[in-house]
Amino acid sequence: MSDIVEHLTVVNHPLVQHKLTIMRDKSTSTAAFRQLLREISQLLAYEVTRGLPMTTKRIDTPMQPMDAPTLDGKKLALISILRAGNGLMDGVLELIPSARVGFVGLYRDEETLQPVEYYFKVPEGMDDRLVIAVDPMLATGNSSVAAIDMLKKAGATNIRFLCLLAAPEGVARMKEAHPDVPIVTAAVDEKLNEQGYIIPGLGDAGDRMFGTK
Ligand code: URA
Repeated sequence: MSDIVEHLTVVNHPLVQHKLTIMRDKSTSTAAFRQLLREISQLLAYEVTRGLPMTTKRIDTPMQPMDAPTLDGKKLALISILRAGNGLMDGVLELIPSARVGFVGLYRDEETLQPVEYYFKVPEGMDDRLVIAVDPMLATGNSSVAAIDMLKKAGATNIRFLCLLAAPEGVARMKEAHPDVPIVTAAVDEKLNEQGYIIPGLGDAGDRMFGTK
């Protein structure tokens, strides 16, 4: 893949798949889960940032001057979809420390499975930035679609979505609502269950990373 043009990119890299398997295992501790999420998020970040605009700048190596490649344009905006998005964002931020950061607070009504907004704070100049929205689990797609709606309302026109695991239902919902937003994920699982959990999945990503129940 030389650029992000596909609607869905599954990062089928051995390291990503190996780490994901350990994360899925219910006997994996909270500490190990968090560490693996940090590591895997950096591998996924490598993919989701493909094709960023580049320019050159004049530098002096110890040998001679050269026009060397460097990122162009405004700092990208990383948007965490709370609360589980924070776990994915930490690792991405280590790789892209100059990124601007925003938060979308949505919780899922357990009965309707519909997203309810409780927080929204994003960097200024969203229309000029590549915006990467992060949420580990693309399940029904309801929260992700709602979050992208809100980001577009705030001016974003160039959005990518990064998740760890997706359900086919969520991918289809995103494609229908936001065909312009490419998705990068480590795997697309089999299905959703009646409670909206991804099967086989890894359980509740927030609970797994924060040690809650
Ligand atoms: N959110 C989760 O944390 N896990 C799922 O399986 C689905 C949504």
